[in-house]
Amino acid sequence: MRLTNKTAVVTGAAGGIGQAIVKKLLAEGAQVLAADLSASALTVFNDYPKDKLITFSVDVTDYQQVEAMVQHGVTHFGQLDIMINNAGIGAPKPLLDHDPIADFEPVTRVNQQGVYYGILAAGRQFRRQESKGVILNTSSVYAQLASEMTFTYNVSKAAVDMMTKCAALELAPLGIRVCAVAPGRVDTPMLRQYEALGLWDHIRKEQMRQTFTQPSEIADIVAFLVSDEANCINGCTVSASDGFEHFKYPLLG
Ligand SMILES: NC(=O)c1ccc[n+]([C@@H]2O[C@H](COP(=O)([O-])OP(=O)(O)OC[C@H]3O[C@@H](n4cnc5c(N)ncnc54)[C@H](O)[C@@H]3O)[C@@H](O)[C@H]2O)c1
Repeated sequence: MRLTNKTAVVTGAAGGIGQAIVKKLLAEGAQVLAADLSASALTVFNDYPKDKLITFSVDVTDYQQVEAMVQHGVTHFGQLDIMINNAGIGAPKPLLDHDPIADFEPVTRVNQQGVYYGILAAGRQFRRQESKGVILNTSSVYAQLASEMTFTYNVSKAAVDMMTKCAALELAPLGIRVCAVAPGRVDTPMLRQYEALGLWDHIRKEQMRQTFTQPSEIADIVAFLVSDEANCINGCTVSASDGFEHFKYPLLG
C-alpha cells in the first residue's frame, strides 16, 4: 500500500470520479475526508469506519467552507497530506446561446475559484504543519483543446492547468508538490449529459480505442500521482485520456 498513514481530502467525492478516487485512496491505506456539495449523495460513504473515512458538506466556491473542510480533516485525523481538488461542473451549450451570467459564473466559480481555494487552504495547512504535502487538481483534455458547446468549461480547465504550474512553483520551497490529471471521456453522471443530446456514440469515438475511460482508471492514476512514487512529477498536467488530444476524429469511424 502506497498511502499508509496519509490523510487526504477529496472534493467532488460523491461524483463518478470522486467516489472512485476515495475508494482507491482507502485501498492504498489512506484516511480520507470525502467532501461534496451534495450532503445526501455523501451518504454513499455511510458504511465506512470513522477512523478511515469521514464526510463533509462543502461548497468549494466559498473559501470559509473550504478552510473549514481542511480544518475538520486535520482535527479528526491529525494532519493533512494530500489535497485533491476534484469538484467540477459543466453543461454543454452553444456559445451564442449563453446567458452571460448563468453560463459563465457558476462553472468558473466551481472549476477555477474552487481549485484556487483548495490550493490556498491546503498550502496554508502544509505550511502550518511544516510538512511536505501534495495537491492534485482534476483538469481535462479540454484545458488545451477548443471544442464546441463547452466554452466556459474549457477556459476554467485551462486556468486549472496554469494554477497547477504557478502553485507548484510558489510552493516548491516548502517541498510541496502540485500536479493535475487530465481525463478525456470518463463514464460519469457529468458525461451522461451527452447521452441526452444524442451524442453518446459520437463522443465514445473521440478516444483512440473508442471506449470510455472508467472512473477507477482515473483513480489509479491519481493514487500514483499523489504517492511518493511520483515524486519527480511536479507543476504539470498528466494526460489520462486514451489519446483523445493526439488525433482527429477518424474518417472511417
Ligand atoms: N467525466 C468526464 O468525462 C471528465 C473528463 C475530464 C474531466 N473531468 C473532471 O473530473 C471531475 C469530476 O467529474 P465527474 O465526471 O466525476 O462528475 P460528477 O458530476 O459525477 O461529479 C462532480 C461532483 O462535484 C460535486 N460538486 C459540484 N459543485 C460543487 C461545489 N460547488 N462544491 C463541492 N462539490 C461540488 C457534485 O455534487 C458531484 O458530486 C470534474 O472536475 C470534471 O470536470 C471529467
